[in-house]
Amino acid sequence: MSLNNCVVLNLPRFTNAEGNLSFIESHVHVPFAIQRVYYLYDVPQNAQRGAHGHRDLQQILIALAGSFHVFLDDGYKKKSFILDSPSQGLYICPMIWRDLAHFSSNAVCLVLASAPYDENDYFRDKEVFYAAARGEL
Ligand code: TYD
Repeated sequence: MSLNNCVVLNLPRFTNAEGNLSFIESHVHVPFAIQRVYYLYDVPQNAQRGAHGHRDLQQILIALAGSFHVFLDDGYKKKSFILDSPSQGLYICPMIWRDLAHFSSNAVCLVLASAPYDENDYFRDKEVFYAAARGEL
């Protein structure tokens, strides 16, 4: 898996005078079956989140409110994104290290995940992640 697979998806958005509505269906608007939803909120502006990689998990990150930066690293290349739209989702494929930072004061980060929580799926050590990503393990 590489960073080329990590792209911003435009989600459906219905807009009228009463506001906006967006929605997400598994395999239609995101390329996996959604098995878990979690969200980050009340994140202090100087806090760093993420700092891990996943062996198999696929995720979509959405800035439901406010904005934050996402820094991705596949072991060879790095790429960063600013998420600030509830109608856009950043797809993150397996084997990508991610760091989240620069949260605005009102930011809410919604995460759609392809599997239930499993600590064994995590890389918490960046050097171990790099070794695995580069096929050295
Ligand atoms: P963690 O993944 O470290 O958060 P972040 O990457 O955003 O900094 O998760 C923080 C804690 O929450 C960790 O102890 C595990 C727990 N957790 C769950 O129990 N279920 C979940 O779905 C998630 C994402 C985390």
